[in-house]
Amino acid sequence: MKEILKKAQKEHYALGAFNFSTAEILKATVLAAKELSSPIIVATSEGEGGFIGFREAAALVGVWREAAKLPIILNLDHGKNLDIIKKAVAAGYDAVHFDGSGLSYKENIEQTSKAVKYIREYSKTFDRDVIIEGEIGYLRGASSLHQEKLEIKESDLTSPEQALDFIEQTGVDSLAIVIGNAHGVFAAGEEKLHLDRLAAIKKEVGDKVFLVLHGGSGIPAEDVKKAIELGIVKVNINTELRLAYKAGLEKEFAASPSETTPYKMLQPSIDEVKKVVMEKIKLFGSENKININN
Ligand code: G3H
Ligand code: ZN
Repeated sequence: MKEILKKAQKEHYALGAFNFSTAEILKATVLAAKELSSPIIVATSEGEGGFIGFREAAALVGVWREAAKLPIILNLDHGKNLDIIKKAVAAGYDAVHFDGSGLSYKENIEQTSKAVKYIREYSKTFDRDVIIEGEIGYLRGASSLHQEKLEIKESDLTSPEQALDFIEQTGVDSLAIVIGNAHGVFAAGEEKLHLDRLAAIKKEVGDKVFLVLHGGSGIPAEDVKKAIELGIVKVNINTELRLAYKAGLEKEFAASPSETTPYKMLQPSIDEVKKVVMEKIKLFGSENKININN
């Protein structure tokens, strides 16, 4: 699985990490990736995984991986403690994000290191390479539509020196950073990335880690493109999929108020989500990149 990210890092494109909590959102995402021959990461947060079921999510992804013949990485998103990390890997997740960004820097290093140690031991015992992501910086927002204006402070941003220190002390494979990004879509104005900060972080850490951009919804496409050129290899997308899903439902309820067949009612949502995922895959440059060996 790491090879998929290494190839992206080497060739300067990014993988989308698309959140899902229902079988049809996963289906829409896989269909989009299939149509564009793109490797993808699919992810559940603790809440999303709790809803669909962790083992159920892993089983569905396993079936899709085979049916679509695509490299699909299943990722736990924003795991806040070791128990949830353990639960995800036991269920069959390929990657985990340990989010200790709400802790003090020292605590974050301690707890992330414990999670890394656990993952390395697990990988060795079960001969299954699980990827682990850490996070530093203060990421604002939640994956929804926000009416208020986004105010990002200089102190929220990830420090380049801390980024290097953090990866050296914890040994994480991937690092989520804050460079002006935030969770959610902000109706009052798009998020602007501090690309100079990203360049400084990349200069410090080089290729030692896979750099991750959370809060991928609502960032201008141009900024995302430049961020990928500067070294981002994973972009997390959730809110734009949620909005597309909801728009599909609203469209369906307005057009066919008497429809009662779930698979018919949900088709417009699948179509809307698929459209967004296809647009993101094209933006991230992962189209036609499923062959790991070239
Ligand atoms: O972890 C998930 C992502 O960071 C999603 O962010 O809802 O702004 O797309 P988003
Ligand atoms: Zn996130």
